[in-house]
Amino acid sequence: MNKLLNTDELIYEIEKLNLNLSKTQKILKKTEDKYKNLLERSSDIIFVHQNGKIVLASKGCLKLLGAKNQKELIGKDLLNDIVHPDYRDVVKKRDDNVYKNKKEASFLEEKLIKLNGDILDVDVCPVPYTYKGKPAIKVYARDITKKKKNELENKLNYLKMKNLTDYFQMILEDERSRISQEIHDDLGQTLIMLKLNLQNLQNELNQIDKNNIFNDKISKIIFLSDSINQKLKDISYQLRPPILDHLGLISAIKWQVEEFEKLSGIKCSLKTSSAKLKLKKDVSTTIFRVFQEALNNIYKHSKATKVNIIIKKYENYLLFKIKDNGVGIKIDKINKLTSLGILSMKERIVSINGYFNIINNKNNGTVINIKIPTSEKYNKNIKKKRM
Ligand SMILES: Nc1ncnc2c1ncn2[C@@H]1O[C@H](COP(=O)(O)OP(=O)(O)OP(=O)(O)O)[C@@H](O)[C@H]1O
Ligand SMILES: [Mg+2]
Repeated sequence: MNKLLNTDELIYEIEKLNLNLSKTQKILKKTEDKYKNLLERSSDIIFVHQNGKIVLASKGCLKLLGAKNQKELIGKDLLNDIVHPDYRDVVKKRDDNVYKNKKEASFLEEKLIKLNGDILDVDVCPVPYTYKGKPAIKVYARDITKKKKNELENKLNYLKMKNLTDYFQMILEDERSRISQEIHDDLGQTLIMLKLNLQNLQNELNQIDKNNIFNDKISKIIFLSDSINQKLKDISYQLRPPILDHLGLISAIKWQVEEFEKLSGIKCSLKTSSAKLKLKKDVSTTIFRVFQEALNNIYKHSKATKVNIIIKKYENYLLFKIKDNGVGIKIDKINKLTSLGILSMKERIVSINGYFNIINNKNNGTVINIKIPTSEKYNKNIKKKRM
């Protein structure tokens, strides 16, 4: 049990405690001054604020905010003078949490205003701190203005490239359409006229002499003109199947799948939940071209014996699935920038706001999934998933 102290002993103990307290306070002050000095001289971007006012700032911070000396910055109101209006609420919330939980927050991108009014992009991390014995917040910042500028430039360059690619695709499709029509209408009609003229000539010659020597030769020329006409029709269809414009995407895909089966000998099954889809011309064309490239790849690379195609209408999007039972795509081929076929499939689908992915189906062939939004809801969900 502690013995009871008399008054003198009590006064002596209190004085001893006071002495210790004042010694500790002196040491604390010395350490604080030393740290203050170090912080002020640091070229890192650090500042301390207390009750909303800046109380300490490093050399790096003065430079960043364009202050000539400490005096220009100390005493400034953090939220109203330094933080950009768009970020005031979030900064206040984060700082309140740091005070409350006494725990640092993670780095967050925000904007600050320099003393001359210029705007800076920074990454900041507030940590709990004690200044003059009272709670404060020390902020570490990184200048990311250049990084942000580069990001913006890259984005703009990407958009420029994308617009250019879209424009070229459009010209290409128009040109294909024009040549296809010219072959079909102009050359095709001329060949029919040639054939009719040849048939008339043959008839006239036959009327003069049934056994004339030109009969066989004219028949051969007629046969040749027929096969040229058929070839021209094929080329014209390959360039742009008229069925795509007249009967729509599903009919065009059906036609393409039948042609593919004939050419490749690979069995195809096509399941579709609707006979007709209401799609804009550029959307139909894009999906059709992607289908053609997918089938080309199956023919060239897959060694498949069967292809399953599913076209399904969901509430907010359309699904196109192309699945083969071949050797399966190698993972390293999927994102290779030199794989132009796959790259252009992706780019084309993205250009109509769709979603494209190609996967190796667990060593059982390759699957391509294409989703085309038919309502805003789908886009919102996709954005959420990507965040
Ligand atoms: N269905 C598939 N099965 C197996 N491998 C595939 C399949 N599709 C693509 N690949 C692989 O992915 C690679 C890239 O395909 P991509 O279409 O980009 O280029 P490519 O067909 O080789 O050339 P291009 O399309 O430019 O004529 C192919 O070389 C092939 O190795
Ligand atoms: Mg290819």
